[in-house]
Amino acid sequence: MSVVEKTIRKLQESQQRAGEVAGNIPSPSAHHETADATAEPASPACARGAIITVERGTLRSAGLMPAEQDAQLLTRQYRKIKRPLINAAIGREGPRLPRGYLIMIASAMAGEGKTFTAVNLAFSMAREKDVRVLLVDADVAKPQLSNLLGLGEARGLLDALRQPDLDVESLIHPTDFPTLSVLSAGTAGDDATELLSSTSMDRLAQELGRNDSRRIVVLDSPPLLQTTESSALAHVAGQIVVVVRAESTPQPVLIDALKTLEGHPALSLVLNQSMRSVTSEYYYYGYGTERAGSDVSG
Ligand SMILES: Nc1ncnc2c1ncn2[C@@H]1O[C@H](COP(=O)(O)OP(=O)(O)O)[C@@H](O)[C@H]1O
Ligand SMILES: [Mg+2]
Repeated sequence: MSVVEKTIRKLQESQQRAGEVAGNIPSPSAHHETADATAEPASPACARGAIITVERGTLRSAGLMPAEQDAQLLTRQYRKIKRPLINAAIGREGPRLPRGYLIMIASAMAGEGKTFTAVNLAFSMAREKDVRVLLVDADVAKPQLSNLLGLGEARGLLDALRQPDLDVESLIHPTDFPTLSVLSAGTAGDDATELLSSTSMDRLAQELGRNDSRRIVVLDSPPLLQTTESSALAHVAGQIVVVVRAESTPQPVLIDALKTLEGHPALSLVLNQSMRSVTSEYYYYGYGTERAGSDVSG
């Protein structure tokens, strides 16, 4: 069965289950990761921009963080999602995937939850004691994340690509969350697509991995079917997480999106099933993840 067929089957299953409220919530994982308090401090050598405070309230108001009553459930779900990604990224419990540290969060269309997933996955990963997370706003046309973090005017990804002599580390901002740092989208320009598909992007990707072997880079990206930048990013990313809004992504659209990624060696699927129950006010998140490579089961 091809990657696309497997993915569609998962989507169909999840859509069938859409009405079964209780059954959609994954059970808590038996293996819980290290809590915030044990996280290691970030390497000061690897992030030299001004320290920024990540305003959780601002992110929550923008819909990019769960409401407080939903946070615990989401935390449990992201634990499941992040584990295989981290394993492949840093070679925990197995070999390191080539460029596995570079994780692109993709989706077919806008509004499917890429930025939401990138932010919450980055926070979840940053709670691990042996990794440092760099969250990159690679949605250069709509840099929502950069704007919300107060980095809308700051130099970032595009500047590093435009000026090869610029040290990318000097553009990375540490945050008040010690193991999480941020690289903004940078100064916009008509050259964005060319820059992202250039050899400079390749060089930058290597540099980010070489400078810190414990670093995981989470790329928030533009939609696969609505921009050309995302295909360029997919070429450099070692792992791609495709976010599917299970209750609304049409299957033909998902198929088209997955076709643009066909042949990628490390594709994962996250079903982002935020929805309201038909029978109550209960608001919940349902996530499932499945490696869409050769090791897919079911
Ligand atoms: N799991 C989720 N739970 C609640 N709201 C979500 C979830 N995923 C996405 N959203 C909401 O959907 C909207 C679009 O999400 P966003 O991450 O900005 O999409 P994208 O980056 O793919 O365009 C946002 O308003 C966000 O709050
Ligand atoms: Mg977005």
